Amino acid sequence: MERRGFLKLTGTTAAAVVIAPSLITERLYAEDGKLYQTYEKIQLKDADGNPLKASALKKEENYVFNFPYISTPCIVVDLGEATQKDVRLMADDGTEYIFKGGVGKNGSIVAFSAICPHQLTHPTPDASFFQYLPRGGKTLAYKEAGVFVCSSHLSAFTPKDGGKRVGGPATEGLTQIVLEIDADDNMWAVGALGPNKFHDYLDSFKSEFKKFYGNKRKAKKLIKEETKVVALTDFSTDIMQY
Ligand code: FES
Repeated sequence: MERRGFLKLTGTTAAAVVIAPSLITERLYAEDGKLYQTYEKIQLKDADGNPLKASALKKEENYVFNFPYISTPCIVVDLGEATQKDVRLMADDGTEYIFKGGVGKNGSIVAFSAICPHQLTHPTPDASFFQYLPRGGKTLAYKEAGVFVCSSHLSAFTPKDGGKRVGGPATEGLTQIVLEIDADDNMWAVGALGPNKFHDYLDSFKSEFKKFYGNKRKAKKLIKEETKVVALTDFSTDIMQY
């Protein structure tokens, strides 16, 4: 299993970042570039190496993939209902950015970096303390499920609102992984929106990278062309949820 990741933001002003679809390219772009980073367009593939179809995602199931670095984990979820649109969010430095909404036929598919912005908890093949908790579940981190929960210190984030922090010690929201779905229902990862911890993460888990990827330097490389998507239940041996 590979992983991937990236980008540190240095913006210090309160300018809003607007992401909008281009009529020509159908790609997303940031009008001023802040808090939004594009990467090589990466196709999401299933466990057998075939193109992952958006319609194949089970509702409210956690799927792990790596983007934009080989070692940075992300989670994609079909929430089963449309997200909010044009949600204004703010990074710790005061920079605002705007979540434009989910993708897919119902606007219900979202992806986020699975690196907790508090202290970088993330899923590994050994265990996961970080995942989406389907509606109807219970958590100590927030009054209701349908949120991402980091069970290390009980931070919670609402995917319908662009990964906004709603509970716990984290001070910022999750980094959105910007997806595109083409006319054939294929899925692509194209960028990251919002503050992120990619560099902090890449500097912090060298022994883990060696264990899971065999080579620390390889783990820090950007992913090329495609990334494999697997259910979290197949990715992590133990899934911990409080
Ligand atoms: S590391 Fe996630 S809440 Fe502390």
